[in-house]
Amino acid sequence: MAATPVTFHKDVLPVLQKNCQTCHRPGEAAPMAFLTYKETRPWAKAIREAVASGKMPPWTAESGAGKKFHNDRTMSARDKQVLSDWVESGAPEGNAADAPPAVRFVEGWIMGKPDKVWQLPEAYTVPASGTVEYTYYIIPNAFPEDTWIESAEIRPDARPVVHHVIAYVRPPGSTWLNGHDSGQFFVPAERKAGVQQPPNLKPSQWRQWIAGYAPGVRPHTPVKGGARLVPAGSDLVFELHYTAAGKPMPDRSSVGIILAKEKPEHRVVTSVVLNTGLKIPAGADNHRVDASVTLAEPVTMLSVTPHMHLRGKAFEYRAIYPTGESEVLLRVPKYDFNWQISYEFEKPLNLPKGTRIECTAHYDNSANNRFNPDPSKEVKWGDQSWEEMFAGFMELSLNLNQDPDTLFEKAKKPPVQTAANR
Ligand code: HEC
Repeated sequence: MAATPVTFHKDVLPVLQKNCQTCHRPGEAAPMAFLTYKETRPWAKAIREAVASGKMPPWTAESGAGKKFHNDRTMSARDKQVLSDWVESGAPEGNAADAPPAVRFVEGWIMGKPDKVWQLPEAYTVPASGTVEYTYYIIPNAFPEDTWIESAEIRPDARPVVHHVIAYVRPPGSTWLNGHDSGQFFVPAERKAGVQQPPNLKPSQWRQWIAGYAPGVRPHTPVKGGARLVPAGSDLVFELHYTAAGKPMPDRSSVGIILAKEKPEHRVVTSVVLNTGLKIPAGADNHRVDASVTLAEPVTMLSVTPHMHLRGKAFEYRAIYPTGESEVLLRVPKYDFNWQISYEFEKPLNLPKGTRIECTAHYDNSANNRFNPDPSKEVKWGDQSWEEMFAGFMELSLNLNQDPDTLFEKAKKPPVQTAANR
């Protein structure tokens, strides 16, 4: 054991501030706060275990296998050692005078103060039990004029029941969710059909993603000179996925945006590599699914976000360059549905025209997967958590004259589909 004892105030608190408190404080994702000795002490053993096993802090990229990410949550060996030494020596408090000053977090919004906020105008009361279907709420003409968004964030209201929220923009002329009135909660019938985009509309004319929330998700870091364009006349659409938590709870979640202060130099869009034709046999413990897109134009890639559901096991992105060289961009060897992590590249990737972006997913539909809702079933595409998805989301930065709908070469064969904006 170290000659000077490791104490909470002197040694442990700085480590918690740096690695844990963004989530472990009141009002954030984690169920318990680690701000004071009193709050933290009962968790000492659990902390040692969660850190030793790699469960905390949540970060699932294999280090060394892909690119470097500036939002990497991997702890330094020294910080891990401090926590383990502290627990080993009986988790002493030490002297409060040794504590570093408390970190000042921005209350309410992680991204900073929004310029505009839309809160659900009425509460949705999540029932005590049962399954709640994906529910939508449309705020009509939320964007009367062309709007450049620098950052967007969703604040969940009733955290225990908010599984995820996505804020979409529905441009004028889109047929998405047609026939449903705005100003009320509804469950669309066409949800069952999965991703159904009419052939006469370009992806970006159908809907555009602006922000997503799931526990632990942080708003994307804005890039200098980059912003998302929302066309004039667009509606704002909340996609709400609630899970019952034992007692009825009303929720009024919000979406906030920060506007670009100057005319942007780049347009940021979210694209996706999809395979909607997946079919995972009952009991298969390592079922592989692939999909790829080839760039018809050069783009800059800012971040990637793999998305699967409870049978998701591993996910990988690779770039195959026109020279034939290839490299792994991100490898997630142990995918965890609970953490919808966006991996933001430390240096944005400039990908030349002709680059193929390949995604490979593996699924565990066996009884050994403790999250598996039913290993006896073949599983197909669908957005409910007992169905499966294969989505390799990519955040791209374009020149202002580039069309987000013609970035990829046309897919040669189904079921691989591409969409310039999800
Ligand atoms: C991105 C948000 C986030 C960060 C960062 C984070 N946690 Fe957590 N932590 C959570 C959430 C949410 C839970 C509850 C859900 C769960 O257990 O998966 C949790 C649960 C835990 C638990 C209970 C685990 C169990 O098995 O019951 C421990 C212990 C813990 N965190 C320790 C830490 C420590 C120590 C750090 C920093 C080194 C840290 N966490 C960083 C979000 C976070």
